[in-house]
Formats: sequence, structure tokens, C-alpha cells
Amino acid sequence: MIRTLTLMGALLAGTAAIAQDTVPIPPIDVDAARAELGKRMFYDTRLSGDASLACASCHDPARAFTDGEALSAAYTGAAHFRNAPTLANVGYRGAWMHDGRLGTNLNDVAREMITETYLMNMDMRIMQERMKQDPVYVEMFKAAGMSEPSNGGARNALMDFMKTIVSRGAPVETGDLSEAAQRGQVVFEGKGQCASCHTGARYTDDQVHNTGVPGNAEIWADPERHSAFVTYAKFMGVENYMNLREDLGAFIRTHEDDSKRTFLTPTLRELTYTAPYMHNGVFETLEEVVAFYNQGGGDDPLKDDRLKPLNLSDQEQSDLVEYLKAMSGESFDIDAYVWREDDFDYVLINDWLNATN
Ligand code: HEC
Ligand code: HEC
Repeated sequence: MIRTLTLMGALLAGTAAIAQDTVPIPPIDVDAARAELGKRMFYDTRLSGDASLACASCHDPARAFTDGEALSAAYTGAAHFRNAPTLANVGYRGAWMHDGRLGTNLNDVAREMITETYLMNMDMRIMQERMKQDPVYVEMFKAAGMSEPSNGGARNALMDFMKTIVSRGAPVETGDLSEAAQRGQVVFEGKGQCASCHTGARYTDDQVHNTGVPGNAEIWADPERHSAFVTYAKFMGVENYMNLREDLGAFIRTHEDDSKRTFLTPTLRELTYTAPYMHNGVFETLEEVVAFYNQGGGDDPLKDDRLKPLNLSDQEQSDLVEYLKAMSGESFDIDAYVWREDDFDYVLINDWLNATN
């Protein structure tokens, strides 16, 4: 049985004609029972090899699904070389990961997160067996129209849950902008040229660009981070991966020089919850990010032409920060976003674990 879920009302028609910043991001239709299953999985540490990490460990709903660290945590004994990105509106992306290396389907990202040694380090065949031993999962798979727990079904469920994570209620959407934010919007769309890359209701063109963000030296100073980076660079077929001391961004998939150090434009929704910023978390505050753009971005021979010194006054810079803050909405109270049938025998994962331990 396929049940579909339309969150917060009907899809808006003809959105392109309305000013970009007043349009709510339309909901994505998903199978509600599958999304509910994916939600339970998202919080379940048994998805990682040693049952120490859940998706939510690095994608915390209270931080718009980030972890508050410059560089992400990782599997026991490992450390990551990238900042954990927000999952707000992630179902709309055309490509995923900071370098855009996964571009087909959101459930491929779920597989990478689960199986990658420095992420959750889980063999999906074992994951499937673990789920089969849990009567709640068995029941939830049935409710979602699947005969028994399976890898493919599990990944699709995680995908459907992630598609329900849609930003709501930001001042840019409700039109409730302070005067400072309104002045900041003029800078954002005018002098700052921000809107040429940060476009649409999610404020991203879903393309990669070189903005000259400085490297994060900790990746090479910390042996665990360096080792995860080497594993990644080797797997992606980059020559000289042992001596590499920079994150090459999208070059890793194109192997073309002009994409060196290019990264996907991130969404700007929910920035108040997602510090630190950039693929490697080098900026702690929005003020620092704006100062970076004001000086014309970083120092890189391949930097995008649009990044030039902006000569913004202190007032203009703080107005711009106010506008960036106005892109954040209600914090993510997940239950509010996922439909649940009244008579569905849903057991919160922690309750169930407590009862069985
Ligand atoms: C140990 C920390 C960690 C865990 C656990 C984790 N993630 Fe991630 N996630 C990351 C990091 C770091 C990235 C960025 C990786 C990169 O750019 O190479 C990421 C990227 C993603 C992305 C791509 C977002 C985008 O906009 O490109 C999605 C989707 C995602 N994770 C979902 C999940 C799901 C679902 C799970 C659980 C199955 C999960 N993650 C578990 C750290 C984690
Ligand atoms: C040439 C395209 C381009 C322009 C112009 C541009 N950005 Fe960006 N922006 C990016 C890319 C690409 C990133 C990610 C870089 C990275 O991860 O290293 C980014 C990252 C950011 C971030 C960090 C978001 C996060 O979650 O980490 C903020 C905030 C931001 N930009 C604001 C602005 C503002 C304000 C302006 C105008 C002054 C602007 N951008 C102009 C492409 C652009």
C-alpha cells in the first residue's frame, strides 16, 4: 500500500513568478510509513558497526541536522575531514557531499554514510539482520509495504525521512523582515552579488565554485583526520594522495584542473543553527563569513571572478548578517514534520532499547 504525504498544504503552482524569498519551499511527496521507518532508523545507533553512532549523532535536529563541530566526528578510532552539512531541504539537491560526488539518488548517500569505514562502518548485510531481530522494525517494514527488513528498503526509508526535512517559517518566507534585514537584502542581491550563486528559495544554484576558502590545517595535523582523508582521496583515484595537503573539492570526481578546490554552494537556510561554516568549518560566525566576502573571498588563482573586494561599510556588513539570519526558521521539531497514523504501534527507539536491555 502506498500512502503519500503532503506536508503543510498543497504544492504551490507557478512559484517561479513570485519573488524568490517569499516562496515557501514546497513539500516533497513521500511514502509516510516509509518516512516514519526512516526516522526511527535515523536515531538508531545499531546502524553503525559498533552501535556507537546514529545518523543523528552528526546530524542533530536541534542544530538543523549538523553537529556544531568545525570538522565532523567519525567512527570509533577515526575523525572526519569535512564539516557535517545541514540536511535542511536536502531532498532538493541535485548532488550531495561538499564536492558533489554523489549525484544520482539520495539513497546512495545513505549507503555511503552507513558503509564508509570512517563514518558508520557497517556491513549492510549485518544491518539487515539486526533489523530482522527487532520486532518493531519487522512491523514497521510491513506497514511500509515491504515483506521484511532489507537493505534497499532501509535506504529508501532513510531517503523518504530526509525528504521530509523542509525549512519552515523563516522571516524571508513570512515576509517579516526587520529593517536591518531588508537593507541587508539589498546588499545581498546588489553590491554583494551573493544572489548570483545563492539563488532560489534554498539560496543555492547547486553548482560548485571556488571561493578561496582557506584550508583547515587540522586535517593534516591530526593523524586520524589525515588517515580518513587519504582513504577518501585514494578511493577517488587521486594521484599522489599520500602527499596531498589540500582538499581538492570537485576535482576528485572530474579530474579537471579548473575544478580544483571548488565546492557545492550550500543552502543558506537555517544558518543560525549550523555554525561553523564552509566545507571545513573554518569560519565560526556569520560575521567572519561576511568579512571574508567583503575582502573578495580567499586567495586562490582559480577563484571565481565574481568574488572581488566589496568595500562594504560596517553598517552594510551587519545588515547583511541580519539578512542571513532571517533565512532561518523554526527549529526542527521532527514530529511536526512526519505524519503518523493514530493507531500505529510506534515505539520510540530509546524506550524499546531500554525495555530490551
Ligand atoms: C560520523 C558523522 C556522520 C554520521 C554518523 C552520518 N553523517 Fe551524514 N555526513 C557527514 C559528513 C561529514 C558529511 C559530508 C561528507 C563529505 O562532504 O564528504 C555528510 C553528508 C551527508 C549528506 C549529504 C548532504 C549534502 O547536502 O550534501 C546526507 C544526505 C547525509 N550525510 C545523511 C546521513 C544519514 C542518513 C546518516 C545515517 C545513515 C548519516 N548521514 C550519518 C557526517 C555524518
Ligand atoms: C561564486 C559563487 C558565490 C558567491 C558570489 C557567493 N557565494 Fe557564498 N558560498 C559559495 C560556495 C561555493 C560556498 C561553499 C564554500 C565552501 O564550502 O568552501 C559558499 C558558502 C557560503 C556560506 C557558508 C554556508 C555554510 O553553511 O557553510 C555563507 C554564509 C555564504 N556563502 C554567504 C554568502 C554571501 C553573504 C555572499 C555575498 C557577499 C556570497 N555567499 C557570495 C558560493 C558563492
